[in-house]
Amino acid sequence: MTPSAKPPRSLTAIVLAAGKGTRMRSDLPKVLHRIAGRTMLGHVLAAVQAAGAGRIAVVAEPGREDVAAEIAREAPGAQVFPQAERLGTAHAVLAARAVLEAPDDDVVIAFGDTPLISAETFLRLRAPLAEGAAVAVLAFESPTPTGYGRVLTEGSRVLAIREEKDASPAERAVTLCNAGLMALSGQHALTLLGRIGNDNAAGEYYLPDAVALAVAEGLSVTVVPVDEAEAQGVNDRVQLAVAEAAIQARLRRSAMLGGATLIAPETVFLSHDTILGRDVVVEPHVVFGPGVRVGDGCTVRAFAHLTDTSLEASVKIGPFVRLRGHAVLETGAELGNFVELKNARMGPGAKAAHLTYLGDAEIGAKANIGAGTITCNYDGVLKHRTTIGAGAFIGSNSALVAPVTVGEGAYVASGSVITDDVPADAMAVARGRQAVKPGWAKVKRAALLAEKALRGGR
Ligand code: UD1
Ligand code: CA
Repeated sequence: MTPSAKPPRSLTAIVLAAGKGTRMRSDLPKVLHRIAGRTMLGHVLAAVQAAGAGRIAVVAEPGREDVAAEIAREAPGAQVFPQAERLGTAHAVLAARAVLEAPDDDVVIAFGDTPLISAETFLRLRAPLAEGAAVAVLAFESPTPTGYGRVLTEGSRVLAIREEKDASPAERAVTLCNAGLMALSGQHALTLLGRIGNDNAAGEYYLPDAVALAVAEGLSVTVVPVDEAEAQGVNDRVQLAVAEAAIQARLRRSAMLGGATLIAPETVFLSHDTILGRDVVVEPHVVFGPGVRVGDGCTVRAFAHLTDTSLEASVKIGPFVRLRGHAVLETGAELGNFVELKNARMGPGAKAAHLTYLGDAEIGAKANIGAGTITCNYDGVLKHRTTIGAGAFIGSNSALVAPVTVGEGAYVASGSVITDDVPADAMAVARGRQAVKPGWAKVKRAALLAEKALRGGR
């Protein structure tokens, strides 16, 4: 650094998240609706953090504990500012006035209902401030601009942003739209925002009015372009689904570029935090809920549903498996069709090939769980654990009534209901002993046929 170089300006992000979002028709605040398993607010907070925002302020409806809890989870250092009355976007930004009193900061303003904006876009939006701009606005060209504020220009100069409601017919014909997000230099932010009035069709304090005020002051205003798709806001459930599709497309692409094969990517649903290793193969129609990590070389066959699950390397599962509630499969473990695991760990090379429920269970290395095995982990009040030792063999159609332990190398006979521990290398059989009565069926059949004849064959 040369002695004259200025220290880098720090970045403050203000996220506007007040308002119920009436058109969602929901009891949940709009910004808590989820996309790829993460709330819209969570996506925005993640993006501004990834863009390097050192200070984050969220403007929210007062008294919403669910919103406050989500902010604490996604951005623990963020400050929350209540906006009691929704008097417009500029009024909302001023609710966070306390973070605007740092003239050396750059300020970016993000919307909690615009979840697709990437960290890079926030950085591009901020960049003109370092070149001396007082205001930078994010804008896109749209063939269908209805509803958006229009960015009015003269040559390459920006003049103002006009809300649809206030626009003349000529202004409505403009196709350059305000994405809503804005960057302000900390030096000018408070003065510009403080001058914004509410003399307009909606009677609201419009943040975009900062543009015309800056122009009138002779300050420099820059337009930063963005794709319309990335600038998409979510106001109803149809737009929520559009945003979901966009984020799914991003997640699938990055999974594939990271070395996973998705045979039919459009049928695979990922969560924001899904991790797929190299040479993972995912067959069609798989859902990854939150908290899933799939190690290198695993195969996830069709119609699997996974949440809160970790697969180590070279695990094979499915088709038709359900893994949840902290399921762990160690290297080389295998699950076949119609197997459910909940809070269960399969040791290396352990197998359950068909029709099995393993809940609150620990399965040792290379144990073999036969078809139809069920851990009876719940007594109606409490959950109990089942432990199966390495190399144990559980015969088909066995019920293991927890708490219970089957020792290493032990053998459970098919059809057993195991209520007592089985020592290592022992065999346990817990079912009625088979009785065979020679000729019984033949005699019975003859008696039944005679009875039928007496009844006239019916
Ligand atoms: C806004 C812009 C418009 C732009 C559009 C892009 C204004 C006045 N208009 O319009 O130029 O084309 O976004 O999508 O800014 N909010 C608060 N408190 C308030 C008002 C709003 O927190 O008092 C929050 C909302 O929750 C939302 C965001 O600010 O997250 C934007 O508000 P909204 O009313 O949706 O603005 P638009 O009409 O979409
Ligand atoms: Ca909006």
